[in-house]
Amino acid sequence: MTQQIINGFSRLSKDEKLDWVAQQFLADPAEAAREIAGFRHADAEVQRVLDGFSENTISNFPMPFGIVPNLMLNGRVYAVPMVIEESSVVAAASGAAKFWLDRGGFHAEVVDTVKLGQVHFCWSGRPDRRAALFPALREKLRAEAAAITENMEKRGGGLLDMEWLHLPDIAPDYYQLRASFETRDSMGANFINSVLEQMAASLEDWAAHDPALTSEERNIEIVMSILSNYTPDCLVRAWVSCPVSAFDGVCGDSGADFARRFQLAVRIAEEDPYRAATHNKGIFNGIDAVVLATGNDFRAIEACGHAYAARSGRYRSLSHCEVADGQFHFQLHLPLALGTVGGLTRLHPLARRSLELLGNPTAAELMQIVAATGLAQNFAAVRSLVTTGIQQGHMKMHLQNILNHLSATPGQSEEAHRYFADKIVSFSAVRAFLGEA
Ligand code: MEV
Repeated sequence: MTQQIINGFSRLSKDEKLDWVAQQFLADPAEAAREIAGFRHADAEVQRVLDGFSENTISNFPMPFGIVPNLMLNGRVYAVPMVIEESSVVAAASGAAKFWLDRGGFHAEVVDTVKLGQVHFCWSGRPDRRAALFPALREKLRAEAAAITENMEKRGGGLLDMEWLHLPDIAPDYYQLRASFETRDSMGANFINSVLEQMAASLEDWAAHDPALTSEERNIEIVMSILSNYTPDCLVRAWVSCPVSAFDGVCGDSGADFARRFQLAVRIAEEDPYRAATHNKGIFNGIDAVVLATGNDFRAIEACGHAYAARSGRYRSLSHCEVADGQFHFQLHLPLALGTVGGLTRLHPLARRSLELLGNPTAAELMQIVAATGLAQNFAAVRSLVTTGIQQGHMKMHLQNILNHLSATPGQSEEAHRYFADKIVSFSAVRAFLGEA
């Protein structure tokens, strides 16, 4: 197999791309090309839409699209769509949703919805000149961005505020324009980036022509203009609460003992970054799956969540648990910059269906649904960890995956599930079992 460099790959047709890739990199080109092409959508129009999302597509990559039913949030019951490849995640969230359905359900509120963007630049002026120059500059920046912000303003959003920062630790002449935005039901990335690039152009014009500047103040170099995925003020809070006695007999014999162990487990994740990363990963199992299902940007959500988890200078758990006066309280606080219009949300046919399933929520409602799902996922994981251990739930699915991999017949699978009910599952143990079965 010789691997080739190619010029003009993007100009090839989809079939030509697939053929080239199969010929160059895959052991059985004809069969591989047939298999990969088999995942293209039968409806050419749907495929055209999917192909429009990204470049150099050769086919589609299917992922399971599952549902968490019975998730009660603020008194309303949702069937939450999830796109995730990891076994046990949907089952765990469904278990937690059912569990809390009988205990008051989930609660959530949006704390704020502010998004941020930055223009990074170097400037030859002195930092103390900002106070005199900024009022007029701010007005110019706002006025020259008006053509872009006008529509968003009609929808109740727009450019909120601007700060002009000097951060000499980065470079003595480094400045930053930090702007805040309200983008209503859109995630707002394109809107924010367009405004920021206009602001950068306005800054250059200001430096070149504003009569208030001295000749020493006319040098400006725009480094970059881009939204910040760290949006600590686009914040949502989700929580569950019940008397510890509500756990009696369902999470071990003593509800109080379960609550104590649960709280300690969360406390460990608040202090120990090694545990915190795994704990938060469990939260994002739920969050990412809903974010993907609704056509939102899960990389942005993860980047922001992890930055927020480290806001104190140490990486910590995003959730917090308190047990006091016989009451268990478990909450999740995190920023979620989500959209329910724009981007893929309405273009991807299944994202559109996901949003419909959720009652076509506003972005603020979706923030609450996603946060509640993350909390449900976290509750399920920590509950398993401090009671049965995580493997009990995982192993059933893991066993089935191994059985599928080894092409076990339905009869063999049934026997294997019976046999491994009280045994440790491993690939070699299952293979040995099938050899003997
Ligand atoms: C596995 O995907 C997620 C967990 O590890 C989360 C956790 O440990 O809290 C189970």
